[in-house]
Amino acid sequence: MVSLYRKYRSKTFDELIGQDHVRRYFANALDRKEISHAYIFTGPRGTGKTSTARLLAKVLNCCDPDGYNPCNNCDNCRAIDEGSFMDVIELDAASNRGIDEIREIRDSTNYRPVHGKYKVYIIDEFHMLTKEAFNALLKTLEEPPEHVIFILATTNLEKVPQTIISRAQLINFKNIREKDIVMLLKRVSAQEGVTIDEKSLSIISKRAKGGARDALSLFEQVMKFCSKEVTSSETLSILGLFDDNMVEEFISFLISGDVDNLLKLSSDLFESGKEPEALIEQSIEKLFIKIKNDKNYALVKLVRELNEVNKDLKYSENKKAVFEIYVTSLAYGYKKLDIHYESNVISQVVNSIEEGFFTEDSEQVCEGDYHIMLQKLANDSSKMNLGLFFALRDKSYDISEGRLTIFFPEESSIEYQITKKYLSELKINVLGTFKGVSEVKPVFAGDVKKDFPSNQDISSKLFS
Ligand SMILES: Nc1ncnc2c1ncn2[C@@H]1O[C@H](COP(=O)(O)OP(=O)(O)O)[C@@H](O)[C@H]1O
Ligand SMILES: [Mg+2]
Ligand SMILES: [Zn+2]
Repeated sequence: MVSLYRKYRSKTFDELIGQDHVRRYFANALDRKEISHAYIFTGPRGTGKTSTARLLAKVLNCCDPDGYNPCNNCDNCRAIDEGSFMDVIELDAASNRGIDEIREIRDSTNYRPVHGKYKVYIIDEFHMLTKEAFNALLKTLEEPPEHVIFILATTNLEKVPQTIISRAQLINFKNIREKDIVMLLKRVSAQEGVTIDEKSLSIISKRAKGGARDALSLFEQVMKFCSKEVTSSETLSILGLFDDNMVEEFISFLISGDVDNLLKLSSDLFESGKEPEALIEQSIEKLFIKIKNDKNYALVKLVRELNEVNKDLKYSENKKAVFEIYVTSLAYGYKKLDIHYESNVISQVVNSIEEGFFTEDSEQVCEGDYHIMLQKLANDSSKMNLGLFFALRDKSYDISEGRLTIFFPEESSIEYQITKKYLSELKINVLGTFKGVSEVKPVFAGDVKKDFPSNQDISSKLFS
């Protein structure tokens, strides 16, 4: 059986979801016949880079294109779909990293296309090419023959030298929004003759974290077990997830310090064969929502602690022991603090600085105070937060469209790397400080040093 994500590869630009800017860009370019010789497609996996590369290859070589879309029916379109078209060459740089392949490509660019109008070279994950191979590629990009187009795809633009980026048109693929993924799943399930409830659609789209390919794989996994009708309880159990009630229970046992019930929950959990990481991840998601809606700051700390638990669980051999040690010790701690999960009372632990900068929630507005966040980081004695404080203290930043962007000048390579290393901790702090902000993006102006800075580097920075 062909996997769903292959079966439902977008056949027209109009079927490509969540990337309207990409469709518009190519619609215009094709209309004006302004085709560039090199494109870089960058963005997370499963968001449509390879699909778009093939679409472009098809429409450029199609015998009977329909506006900016290929006909999908002529010999050329069909051959490209089957991967047998001589003028469209795909190379996966993750497995062919070397100079030989690139030399071969370079030599072959000199020959005219055999069947189509353009020779299209699609190089996937091209940031993995060796240095030599990169240089050879660069040479080719310097003087590309008229009939040649390179489409270079990468999930990791940071690893691509500026010299290549500056020779290509850069096209950014974005994570796909949940509601767009839901639409895709609805279309596919209808075509597969499967009914699926809204709750399952929402569960799957959340898990996919912006990737259409992952969404289709998860859906396929569920479909295999459910025949023609998918319900949310089946979806949860097949995907190893927990229902809302259990997540709520887990959190409230933690906060109320109910160790007995936590241990009972733990044995049920391990008996069911599900992963504790999933429970913790779902709890973190729920807590985030809670923090946002109820302005219950005391929960930020719990999120951070749960995040730590998951890090440790990932590498541990005896998950049950690690899970139980952590959750019981958390529970004992919270018992003493007497925090309330269900609280409209702004939490007990929030001190005066934290009060008063969460006003009414509204999705559009982004507000927050960078200095207050810094102050919070500085007041927390963990190494991570202090590191973040020093890394962020004198940086310029921008808040818009739900995102906090922090700019690191060229001489701040170490600060940038510290920030990237502790990004998930930073996110937790940002979420607790800024209203309407759900994303953090560090941006660096220079070339990144490959290695993480040594402790000596860091301390010389910190105390300079
Ligand atoms: N933007 C999108 N719209 C619709 N389907 C998509 C999209 N992105 C990915 N897919 C689905 O995921 C599969 C893999 O996508 P692909 O283009 O190979 O992603 P990438 O190259 O970015 O990793 C496609 O065949 C398609 O089923
Ligand atoms: Mg791809
Ligand atoms: Zn065609």
